Amino acid sequence: NKRHNLTSQLWYMYHYAGQDILIHESIDSYGAVMWPAALALCSFLENNRHTVDLEGKEVLELGAGTGLVTIVASLLGAAVTATDLPDVLSNLRANVMRNTRGRCRHTPRMEVLSWGYDLERTHPSSVYRYDYVLAADVVYHHDYLDELLATMKHFCGPDTTLIWANKVRFKTDLTFTDNFTKTFNTSLLVEDGEMKIFMATSRETRQRRNDSL
Ligand SMILES: C[S@@+](CC[C@H](N)C(=O)[O-])C[C@H]1O[C@@H](n2cnc3c(N)ncnc32)[C@H](O)[C@@H]1O
Repeated sequence: NKRHNLTSQLWYMYHYAGQDILIHESIDSYGAVMWPAALALCSFLENNRHTVDLEGKEVLELGAGTGLVTIVASLLGAAVTATDLPDVLSNLRANVMRNTRGRCRHTPRMEVLSWGYDLERTHPSSVYRYDYVLAADVVYHHDYLDELLATMKHFCGPDTTLIWANKVRFKTDLTFTDNFTKTFNTSLLVEDGEMKIFMATSRETRQRRNDSL
């Protein structure tokens, strides 16, 4: 694959969108190491620019971790907001800035975003509108799967396309997948063993969303 370990075990080199990308991993949290769905999603975005044209698009990444997906989306021309929990943000920011400075038309933004139910107050959907929401390996053993689905639903407006890549490993992952397909109109873009990439759009029409706000 495109992952090359450099002298220290915490630095890895990747190559996407015609650029070398140097990523620092940190061992103190889940989010600071690279997960397989990030690589699958980067390859998909790089190789399917007609299906998912990110040029000039507003993109939100949930659970951005090391920042590789945000970097690749930025290199492909998107205006990206990378989000994650507070303890992940400094490593995320350093990786994103190191690899996008002077290389991208739109400077990526990094923000703390904790998945939850209260997002209409902190991130009103009339203001926070995205063309794409990206998420890689955000489903694994944790207690916030319902909050994650609520967050995806919140940011997936009538004009948004959500792209979720995940290695489906556990029974709880299948339950989430089930709820995900019930919540959104979905199609499976990639299925490679346990690795799946879904594309999803809102079931709510613009009119129904306006009525409920
Ligand atoms: C398994 S890692 C995947 C990281 C990255 N997307 C990748 O594929 O390499 C899951 C990410 O979700 C973030 N995360 C976990 N729980 C979260 C929550 N409740 N709110 C926001 N982010 C969360 C973690 O900090 C971590 O960065």
